[in-house]
Amino acid sequence: MDENYLKINVTASSADFLEQIKKATLQNQLCLGGEELDLNEQQLDSILGERSYSGGSLPESVIEEIEGGQNQLSASFYFKLNPSSKAFKEIQEQILKIDKSAKLDYLPVEESNWLENWKKYYTPQEVNKKIEVIPSWMEPSEGKQISIRIEPGQAFGTGTHETTLGCIETIAFLHGQGISPRNLLDFGCGSGVLAISAEKIFGGSKRITLLDIDEVVQGNCQVNLNLNHCDLDHYVFTSSKEFLLKNQFGYDLILANVLYPVLIENLTFFKSKLVPGGYIVVSGLLQEQEQDLKDYYQHEQLAFIHRVQRGDWVSLTFKS
Ligand SMILES: C[S@@+](CC[C@H](N)C(=O)[O-])C[C@H]1O[C@@H](n2cnc3c(N)ncnc32)[C@H](O)[C@@H]1O
Repeated sequence: MDENYLKINVTASSADFLEQIKKATLQNQLCLGGEELDLNEQQLDSILGERSYSGGSLPESVIEEIEGGQNQLSASFYFKLNPSSKAFKEIQEQILKIDKSAKLDYLPVEESNWLENWKKYYTPQEVNKKIEVIPSWMEPSEGKQISIRIEPGQAFGTGTHETTLGCIETIAFLHGQGISPRNLLDFGCGSGVLAISAEKIFGGSKRITLLDIDEVVQGNCQVNLNLNHCDLDHYVFTSSKEFLLKNQFGYDLILANVLYPVLIENLTFFKSKLVPGGYIVVSGLLQEQEQDLKDYYQHEQLAFIHRVQRGDWVSLTFKS
């Protein structure tokens, strides 16, 4: 068994805390992925195996039991780590800092096991009837006109999160309104999923800037651009806002799926890089943060034009 691969199971004391833990942990550079199903394998085995549900339809009561087990309080994360390392201690501390009552345990897993386990949780994610995000090893679903292929790597943005799907839904909305941006900035690009979605949905040739403070994501972006047959010549990657501020180049669409404080902190930057009449889509907002952000952006002369909600997460569009 390769002790470098660990599965860390976390049970939080509230759904809010779990969301914060998921966000912080998935953004950790050493995190390879997560599972959101809250029943652990033994519990599932006991429901499906020991009670001999091996095929055919499951009784309604069993489905309810499985769904009931998804109590939104537990999640597991895969790491390439040694349990005696300082990094492992820091991850535990970070989780307990968010929720001091969280319960943690971990077990070493074999690489082949976690890869297979991990893959099970990446299913096609439907944006709408025509658009989906699929993991790299899957074929496009029947009937979809646009399938965005993403290699789940270290970068955030596998398309499984509501904030990402909300942004892609918004891109489709803007396209439906006849908006056709030529210069795009994907701020906090992660896997590059939003830039790729924009290129596929809007079509035509674009100039796209990918920006992320985490330089590690660049390699993952490149893999995903290739997977989706994007023209690399149209893309520039940077981890420096200052680099973009040095030139006069403006964007007619900015996509920013980052957390609320980052959206507030960067408003001046966004305004300085948006051309007049340009659009900015902000995501990564919890419903309770929506009004504050709207007030803040509107106060800076950005006109609110559209809203998408998925789960507790909201994506808002403003026009300059
Ligand atoms: C929630 S993920 C979004 C990834 C992808 N765009 C998506 O929609 O799925 C946020 C990304 O923003 C990056 N990020 C966080 N703060 C940032 C900042 N201040 N400037 C640039 N990137 C930032 C993180 O490294 C991470 O890759």
